Amino acid sequence: MSVANQRPKKVTTHVLSEMKMKGEKIAMLTAYDYSMAHIVDGAGVDVILVGDSASNVMAGWETTLPITLDQMIYHGASVVRGVKTALVVVDLPFGSYQGNSKEALSSSIRIMKETAADSVKMEGGEEVIESVKRIISAGIPVMGHLGLTPQSIHKFGTYTVRARQEEEAQKLIRDSHLLQEAGCFALVLEKIPAALAEKVANELTIPVIGIGAGGGVDGQVLVLHDMLGINHEFSPRFLRRYHNLFAEISGAVGNYIEDVKSRDFPNEREQY
Ligand code: KIV
Repeated sequence: MSVANQRPKKVTTHVLSEMKMKGEKIAMLTAYDYSMAHIVDGAGVDVILVGDSASNVMAGWETTLPITLDQMIYHGASVVRGVKTALVVVDLPFGSYQGNSKEALSSSIRIMKETAADSVKMEGGEEVIESVKRIISAGIPVMGHLGLTPQSIHKFGTYTVRARQEEEAQKLIRDSHLLQEAGCFALVLEKIPAALAEKVANELTIPVIGIGAGGGVDGQVLVLHDMLGINHEFSPRFLRRYHNLFAEISGAVGNYIEDVKSRDFPNEREQY
């Protein structure tokens, strides 16, 4: 086999669609900077989301609302420089697309031109359909996002499970079909009952990626800082922690401080 054949193939929207058809689960994680993106991509994740959760985990804001388009572009471009194979999706931040479809398109064009990402993601169903269509008609792939939509936190008031009630569940099902018909290449479902998410994934032909939406969907996404345990204060039921980096990093920093104070660092071999 030639070296070129051994090299992992760049993940495209077409590859994700094939994965759904073959029943192969899609692994997606967030990243916001070059170094983490390089590690996550090298480990073989299929999709990297430059989420507006950067507002929380990178900037320390309470909600995702404050992050700006310029800031998302900075994070997006940093991630793209670290990625070889994963498909990169950049979130359209709050205020960059809700005004009208022209604004949505110009924000998406800025993201594509200034980050070199592969696609954009936006929250909402029927209310953003015109924008979704306009962006896709310009050749930009769009990922939808339904269920818990953190940019609307002030409308809902809480981060609790969405679409438990029949009316909200029916709207979510309708919206998911509208997004697929408008041309979205994939859909994120956040924090909804597992049975509802599975029904949507079975009805749609595009991949459905869940976060707090059970195992009956086509793939999973987690916020990197949550699954690595960097962000140790956030522990919803759906989160599986794969590491306790908060403790690891605190320990390492503690050791460094001790070594500096005790004059152990630097030693003879660590100087010129
Ligand atoms: O911003 C983000 O990290 C997201 C995921 C939670 C899906 O949208």
